[in-house]
Order: sequence, then C-alpha cells, then structure tokens
Amino acid sequence: MNCKKDIFILALETSCDETAAAVTRNGLDILSSVVSSQIDLHEKFGGVVPELASRKHLEFINPVIEESLAQAGVHKEELDAVAATCGPGLVGSLLVGLSAAKTLSFLLDVPLIGVNHILGHIYANFISHPELQTPVLCLTVSGGHTDLLYFEDLKSYEILGRTRDDAAGEAFDKIARFLELGYPGGPVIEKLAREGDSGAVDFPRAEFKDDTLDFSFSGLKTAVINYVHNQRQKDEKINKADIAASFQKTVFDMLIKNVIKAANKMEVKSVVLAGGVAANEKFRCRLENELTSKKLPLFYPERKYCTDNAAMIGAAGYYQFLNRDFAALDLNPEPGLRL
Ligand code: KG4
Ligand code: ZN
Repeated sequence: MNCKKDIFILALETSCDETAAAVTRNGLDILSSVVSSQIDLHEKFGGVVPELASRKHLEFINPVIEESLAQAGVHKEELDAVAATCGPGLVGSLLVGLSAAKTLSFLLDVPLIGVNHILGHIYANFISHPELQTPVLCLTVSGGHTDLLYFEDLKSYEILGRTRDDAAGEAFDKIARFLELGYPGGPVIEKLAREGDSGAVDFPRAEFKDDTLDFSFSGLKTAVINYVHNQRQKDEKINKADIAASFQKTVFDMLIKNVIKAANKMEVKSVVLAGGVAANEKFRCRLENELTSKKLPLFYPERKYCTDNAAMIGAAGYYQFLNRDFAALDLNPEPGLRL
C-alpha cells in the first residue's frame, strides 16, 4: 500500500504586474494557476508604475487566492506549506504577496517558503517537461535578468554568465518604447519583426576582451537610438519593421553565441529556456536549429508558464520544501535578490 502523503502548496507571485496564485500537488502537478494581469493598467504609461502595481495587488490578492483554492478543490486546512516570491521585483508588489503568505502560514501553522522569482522561471520547465534530465544548461531571459546557468541537478547550480548592464527583455521594452510601439516590448517587436528584414541594419554586437559568457545589451540599445536619430537628421524614411527585425536578430545572435559556447564547454544533456523572452517563437526556432547539430534537446515552458505565474513558484517551492528550506515569519522582500 502506498502511504505517501500528497504535498499541497499554495504559491503566490506578486513581484511585478501580475497577481497570481496556484495550488500544486507534489511540486509539478498544477491543480490551479490563476493570474490576474495588470497590463491594461500600465500600458498607457509605457511601463509598470510601482505604486499602481502594489495597489492593484492589494485589491486582487485575496480573490485570486480564493479562486486558486476553489479551482484546485483544496481547502486551506489541507495545505502543507505556503510559498511566495520574495524577490527580485518591486518592493511594494513583493510585500503584498509575501504578507499574505506569512499571514496564511501563521494562521494555518504551516511552513513559509520564500522563493526566488528567477528560480521559479527555471522550474517552469520541469512543470512542462517532468522527463527532463540533468545536467542542464539554462538561459534565463526576462525583463530584469539575463543569466546563463549550469544545473548539476535540481538542487545545485552554477552561474556561468550574466548581463553586465541591461537584461534582454529590458532592451526589448526600451526599444519598443523608443519606437512608440507599446508595452510590453517583446511581443510587439516580435510581431512587427515578422514584417521586416532582419538584415536591413547591421547593429553592433557587444564584444568582451576576456573569455566570458557574460552579456551586454546597452550598447545595442544606444546603437538603435543613434541609427534612428541619424535617419531623421538625413530626412530618410524610418522603417520600424526593419529596425525591429534587425534589433531582434542582434539580441538573439548574442544570446545564442553564448549558449553554444557554454554547451561546448560543459557536458549537458539538455538546454532549457526561462523568462518572458523565451516566449519568442523566432528565438526558440533559431536556438533549436543551432542545438540540433549538437544533438541537444531544447526545452521551454508552455506559453502560459513563460510569463509570470504562481505555478512556477509552487514548483520551485516544493524542492525547497523537500530540503526543509523554510523561511521565518520576519522574511523581508529583497527587490535586488540574485541567484
Ligand atoms: O519573465 P517576464 O514575464 O517578467 C520578468 O521580467 O520577470 O519577462 C518579461 C519580459 C519583458 O521585458 C518582455 O518584453 C519580454 O519578457 N518578452 C518578450 C516576449 N514576450 C515577453 N521578449 C521577446 N519576445 C517576446 N515574444
Ligand atoms: Zn518574471
């Protein structure tokens, strides 16, 4: 007879502009994943307004928690732990989810688990692909992070490279804002780039003197801005689709170059992608083609787990639960938390 008890975790994610709650069973079995997005609210400002974000989180956190429990068919009393994103993110936003998690942990007398948002993005892969084998190379490309990691197993990892300035997603957002395309930048640039010629403008790629796996995108951002200014000064036509396609191609060239370099260096069984930029189909397709020649499979989370959600926090939180990596009730949000 199998007496192993199922572990139910309620996970909360409020690091930026999505209020999300999920219930997971034994980590990777997602019983519910509710996301209330604030994109419409922030769109008109061209970016997330922190004060507005935290107010909206306050308004939505309780209904979203109730909805996630109801959809999962799990009662609060059945929960084994409550997990919440503790960083990185906007401090006011993080506080809302973390305070709710602390309250529930105290009232229900279950452990509190503080989860790193970036780890959550990585674990989203294991939700979508429980068969995934380690060691694995992981590229995390979001609005705040661009990290290249080596996971020996699910519990230990090494940082191989990271961005020295802007994150890849941040570059998409800044260029989209500069070209007045809207927010968030990634999806609008991806869409517009389909109509453009990626070879139209040869933007420079960051080059480092040392043999590093680090990234840099701020030079590219400046190059795009300078290019547009020059075109305007010369009274020449600005083809936004060509710029979007050329910019996007340059970002992907730089990302792919380092993934291949790392794959040549480390012995891995697979490569995984995490973060919002991993939703870009062009990027996935190009990287997949490059890796096929190395016989390395590429995994990425299903679309719904690529952007911010609480299921990924529940999945990462489960492995912390197994390690008894619990937080005290005085856990504070860490806006600049790194891996
Ligand atoms: O992981 P995420 O949802 O939030 C965090 O930053 O943690 O990532 C959001 C970032 C934004 O910068 C957005 O512009 C970018 O991911 N993004 C994309 C795409 N969808 C979202 N970038 C390129 N192509 C996309 N399709
Ligand atoms: Zn995120």
